[in-house]
Amino acid sequence: MISVLLTCWVFLALGTTWTAYSSYCLYCNYVEARKIGVPLRIIPIDHLNKLWLLLDKQVISLVRRLPWVLGRNNFTRFNYRGWHEHDALRAHDEMGEAFVLVTPSHNWLHLADPDAVINMYRRGKDFPRWVKITKFRVHFTYKFIGVQLEMLDVFGGPNIATSKTNGVADPSDRLPCNGIVWSEAISLGDEMACYWAAKGTFTSVGEDAQTLSLHVLSKACFGQSFAFEGHDERQQTSVSASFRFSLLTIMENSLLILALGPGFFMNPWLPLPSTWRDLGQACAKFKKHMAYLYNQKLNVLAEGQLGGDSTLMASLIRASQKKGESKGLTEEEIYGTMFVVSFAGHDTTAHLVTYAIFFLAANPSVQDWIADELRRVLGNRPRQDWDYHTDFPRLKRCLATLYETLRVKTPVAEVKWAERSAQSLDVGGKTLVIPPGTLIVPSYLYVHKHPRFWGQDAQEWRPERWIEKSTNGKSRQRDDEPGQQSDDGDYDSHEVLLPPPSRGNYLGWSEGARDCPAKKFSQVEWVAILAALFRDWEVQPSRLENETSAQARTRVLDFIEKDSDYGGLLLQLMHPERLPLAWSKRC
Ligand code: HEM
Repeated sequence: MISVLLTCWVFLALGTTWTAYSSYCLYCNYVEARKIGVPLRIIPIDHLNKLWLLLDKQVISLVRRLPWVLGRNNFTRFNYRGWHEHDALRAHDEMGEAFVLVTPSHNWLHLADPDAVINMYRRGKDFPRWVKITKFRVHFTYKFIGVQLEMLDVFGGPNIATSKTNGVADPSDRLPCNGIVWSEAISLGDEMACYWAAKGTFTSVGEDAQTLSLHVLSKACFGQSFAFEGHDERQQTSVSASFRFSLLTIMENSLLILALGPGFFMNPWLPLPSTWRDLGQACAKFKKHMAYLYNQKLNVLAEGQLGGDSTLMASLIRASQKKGESKGLTEEEIYGTMFVVSFAGHDTTAHLVTYAIFFLAANPSVQDWIADELRRVLGNRPRQDWDYHTDFPRLKRCLATLYETLRVKTPVAEVKWAERSAQSLDVGGKTLVIPPGTLIVPSYLYVHKHPRFWGQDAQEWRPERWIEKSTNGKSRQRDDEPGQQSDDGDYDSHEVLLPPPSRGNYLGWSEGARDCPAKKFSQVEWVAILAALFRDWEVQPSRLENETSAQARTRVLDFIEKDSDYGGLLLQLMHPERLPLAWSKRC
């Protein structure tokens, strides 16, 4: 009895101390936030609190059932991952172009003024990336595959994502020639189309898109080519499985790993369920696979044969051999960079491809529009003859489909911060002084989807908005805009890709010094996949009994909105398998 009372007392004391400390921190942050002079909303738990990450949605959905203000308040509105997807434009419409969410750990300044956002990106030194969130995204998985290191610098040294500059192991100029990405994505896309055709009705688009993007990365990073394996064909014992399956397992369980720590799953003494044991094994396998490939390439280098190898791993190994002042990369930095690239390049592409297939299923006229372009550019040529240099620049409608999908469903949210000193920033005609330590989140959803920037159809997925008929090859295109395809010298179709309303209105690949180093990679991969899928095939929703095609399409669009959420750390369709699609030959 005494021991029960003692335990209760200890828990009560700990709970009270934690609450008192949290309230004190919240008060201090509130005092700081008031100095900025914009509307504030106070929420009791930071979005990145590790325990909260696991429980937020469940707790919020319970609290929402309470009556009146108990169930509808700032806590239930703002205090969970992905709140902005559901709140849409409301928060900024109510509070203006800037407001702060005050939490016990951080002040989060949300910014919806495109000029201010772009200004912030340009002032990279004043507003560096908040590296902790990148470490936060990747450290838990590095830790598995890296050597024994402390929690945040998991590979013992800087790498592309956790370094403050882009200079460490920067893969942007080391990613392989886009021609490899092009041909690999076409061939895998073709195999995926045949797999879906054999099934007729399929539900595996999410998983198949993940397999495809992982196989493209495998070729680009490691030089390993794997045939496409559809969801029902996957063999966990195949050669590709050690890389692909382990990375998938790690990513699917990223939140769990983050909350409990990697060591937990690898501890042989704990009586863990078999799925958790598998997680530990996945990490060990991934590391083993990378070490194997690393040593294999080192041997090839020793024989003087690595020269023609344009994979990322080969290129990093060559860089590791540098002598003299600029020291080469260490083995850990190579593993770190290889992992970040695999991690960063995998889910982004896969989630966007999944979204696009559903949007296209709901929009047959856009499929026809893309197929027209594909037939005009590629004719009846077999896919082996599709050429990166001549065909890719002409497939503007396909690229427009990526821009539009990324506009309405931006998967990656970036966070900057005023690191050491207060910074001033002009927002909506007013100069804000932002205290050090404030985190700044560009409000993607607002700048990407507000009618005042994008017109009345801003909320709609409409790739045609990116294309304009050119007069004599001229358009309102500017050189440095996302709409630009720099190597496009082809105006035979009299169509050009348009820029967004302003640079600050399009942040899908980020901007400034720390934008996505694989922007072109992802564009080439995307266009190749779309070409392989939609020149000869079409997709539509599998119809319910007595459902008209218009009703089926509305059902898909509703599904996209309701099923979108932050499953892990990226925006995605949570259950694409719940809406069967039909795949057939285009007439
Ligand atoms: C359409 C698909 C993609 C989108 C929308 C996208 C978007 C982004 C964004 C917004 C960032 C900055 C994130 C941050 O600062 O936290 C980023 C960084 C990064 N991305 Fe991508 N990405 C895509 C595809 C890829 C692919 C295919 C790869 C690899 C082949 C890749 C590799 C990376 C890397 C290594 C970084 C970290 C760069 C750094 O730390 O400086 N991305 N990406």
